[in-house]
Amino acid sequence: LRIAVFASGSGSNFQALAEAAQGGRLGAEIALLVCDKPSAPVVSRARAFGIDAFVFQPRDYASREAYEAEIVSRLRDEGIELIVLAGYMRLITDVLVQPYYGRMINIHPALLPAFPGIRAIRQALEYGVKLTGATVHYVDGGMDSGPILAQRAVEIRDDDTEETLAARVHAVEHELLPRAVRWIAEGRVALDGRIVTVRR
Ligand code: GRF
Repeated sequence: LRIAVFASGSGSNFQALAEAAQGGRLGAEIALLVCDKPSAPVVSRARAFGIDAFVFQPRDYASREAYEAEIVSRLRDEGIELIVLAGYMRLITDVLVQPYYGRMINIHPALLPAFPGIRAIRQALEYGVKLTGATVHYVDGGMDSGPILAQRAVEIRDDDTEETLAARVHAVEHELLPRAVRWIAEGRVALDGRIVTVRR
């Protein structure tokens, strides 16, 4: 399975995917990184793994649709079969969602549908929930709203700060996301309306 990873920042999830691929544990090849921030650390991580990158600046384009059209043509050239959004901090339009619905997943640092959007870890702390976690879901046109593929819970401790909680949520993400990609690569995942089932 040829996948493209989209990321905007640190890329620790990209790193987890690339290490899993290198170790033969992903069932998939990362053929392309797509990044909207030339200075993001994830770009050098891709270079270190010898993975091709399409790096762009949104301000060089007239609209979101314009750069997404270019992304779609790169994805077609590369024969990409699955898109993995891993910290891609941009809303996606129909230009990407239409052709890739059911073939695009996202990782979110909360137990959706709780705390969609940005700063999900801080949102959970400030709300005072005792349990949060990580979610892998298919991407639809909404904000973190598509069908849920996998979730894992993380307990919130009384003395947690945003930093300590983020460290535990990220550790869970780094296991959950490569596993979800492997399930898809193995053909075990079925999407039926909102319901996703994984054959064991
Ligand atoms: C992760 O928490 C992911 O769930 C969210 O953005 C963060 C990206 O972190 N969508 P990283 O760039 O993979 O380190």
